Amino acid sequence: MDLQTQMKHAVACAAVDQIQSGMVLGLGSGSTAALMIEALGRKIRSGEINDVVGVTTSFQGEVLASELGIPLKSLSSVSQIDLAIDGADEVDPNFQLIKGGGACHVQEKLVAALANRFIVVVDSTKIVDKLNLQFKLPVEVLPSAWKQVKNNIQELNGKSELRMAKNKAGPIVTDQGNLVLDVIFKNGIDNPENLEREINNIPGVLENGLFVNLTDQVLVGQVKDDIASVYSMNQN
Ligand code: 5RP
Repeated sequence: MDLQTQMKHAVACAAVDQIQSGMVLGLGSGSTAALMIEALGRKIRSGEINDVVGVTTSFQGEVLASELGIPLKSLSSVSQIDLAIDGADEVDPNFQLIKGGGACHVQEKLVAALANRFIVVVDSTKIVDKLNLQFKLPVEVLPSAWKQVKNNIQELNGKSELRMAKNKAGPIVTDQGNLVLDVIFKNGIDNPENLEREINNIPGVLENGLFVNLTDQVLVGQVKDDIASVYSMNQN
């Protein structure tokens, strides 16, 4: 296992340790969240956890959780989520996030917003001083609106590009059937709260990957002297 996978694995297992029987769980997307879903599946199989139900945030999570026999419910059929666990692409010192590296941020934000507690699981490479200096901000857009949204984002001084698919000609298509613009602001994002609102206010935008004031805890996986460990980040 490479170092980054070791960190992801350690942090995924540490988050699953916080799951209790009977909980309604938000199950995130991406490679770290997938390791978390696998760890949950193992605990259910061993009988250590029972009676949980998951609400997935993507087709990826739905396929994986159902293969592992984790009972699932749709978002619209639950009134609250006890605990949601998900990965992130960047985490700043105030626990503000960029998500959407897997283009799943629309459903991920819905689930995080409904959760009583939202735990973010990342490896140490995701911790940054300021958002968007390295990772582009994903914005999901209606297909017919992509050019208009791109121009509107340009007016906010953001440079965006349509995310292109691998092993398929043309752009990636989200689980909702939309497209994704990846946006970079020259000096990063100074005010995530304002920018989240401003971008979502553009006609044709479904949701952007800024997760503001949603996170309760950030668990970080690290490797020192070839040993993987996990720490809980302190908020500024
Ligand atoms: C998907 C996400 C993921 O949680 C994020 O991209 C992190 O993924 P990984 O754990 O594979 O690094 O937001 O939309």
